[in-house]
Amino acid sequence: MSEPLLVLDDVTKNYGAIQALKGISFSIGRGEVVALLGDNGAGKSTLVKIISGGLEPTSGRMLFEGKEFLARSPSEAKDAGIETVYQDLSLCTNVDVVANFFMGREITRKVLGVPVLDERAMEGVVAKALADAGTRIPSLRANVEHLSGGQRQAIELNRFVHWGGKLVLLDEPFAALGVEQTRRGLDMIRKVASQGIGVVIITHIMQQAFQVADRIVVIRQGVVAGDVATSQTSPDAVINMITGETLAGAGAASVAR
Ligand SMILES: Nc1ncnc2c1ncn2[C@@H]1O[C@H](COP(=O)(O)OP(=O)(O)OP(=O)(O)O)[C@@H](O)[C@H]1O
Ligand SMILES: [Mg+2]
Repeated sequence: MSEPLLVLDDVTKNYGAIQALKGISFSIGRGEVVALLGDNGAGKSTLVKIISGGLEPTSGRMLFEGKEFLARSPSEAKDAGIETVYQDLSLCTNVDVVANFFMGREITRKVLGVPVLDERAMEGVVAKALADAGTRIPSLRANVEHLSGGQRQAIELNRFVHWGGKLVLLDEPFAALGVEQTRRGLDMIRKVASQGIGVVIITHIMQQAFQVADRIVVIRQGVVAGDVATSQTSPDAVINMITGETLAGAGAASVAR
């Protein structure tokens, strides 16, 4: 098997006296979708924030593309190709789709020796990126505030892929979306992964995990309570891993005492 994209090795996180993560180890492959499941307070968001530079771990180590990795800020993680996609938090709502797509990376051309934004070129790039991904947006010149949550998410994911992202983290991405937008979102996640990008998705909806993920990693009280291929397990077995009712879950790595 090829080298994993990201390896977590005994990662811990304490918030004062609270041990939110007690030694998390698992890996994410290129092109793999991993669903992170667990009860409220299990430690999922904490883990995602550590990977994407929002929080520093208390101890442990991470390897990204085979090299020791620790992002000290979200922008450092982003530079490495790791990003959390929120439904709308990181888009600027008062400018249009094209401006959001190119934020900080604008194409310019010279007019009488002075650089000006090449709007037509940028619009062409965005139109192609969205079309390639099968995303339909009513107008690329619409301010983002006029788009739905699902459309904003689609733009963010497309932007991430276009600019060479390698690992994307989604913390309950469909919580506020309707059935059709959620279905499109799940399709888009598979498409993103098929381009070799690693995806971590936190969801409380078991059906979504089974629909989209290659692997399910269950966190319980800050430890990995299960790490299984979706094809080798069942919703009932995963529920048992989440609650700790039985220890029979196939592949259960370790359990909290
Ligand atoms: N900033 C913080 N300060 C103190 N404790 C925190 C902080 N953030 C999280 N915790 C605690 O760490 C533990 C893990 O929280 P985390 O948010 O990672 O859980 P989660 O699995 O994402 O839960 P949920 O499904 O409810 O989103 C919980 O006990 C929580 O109360
Ligand atoms: Mg959370």
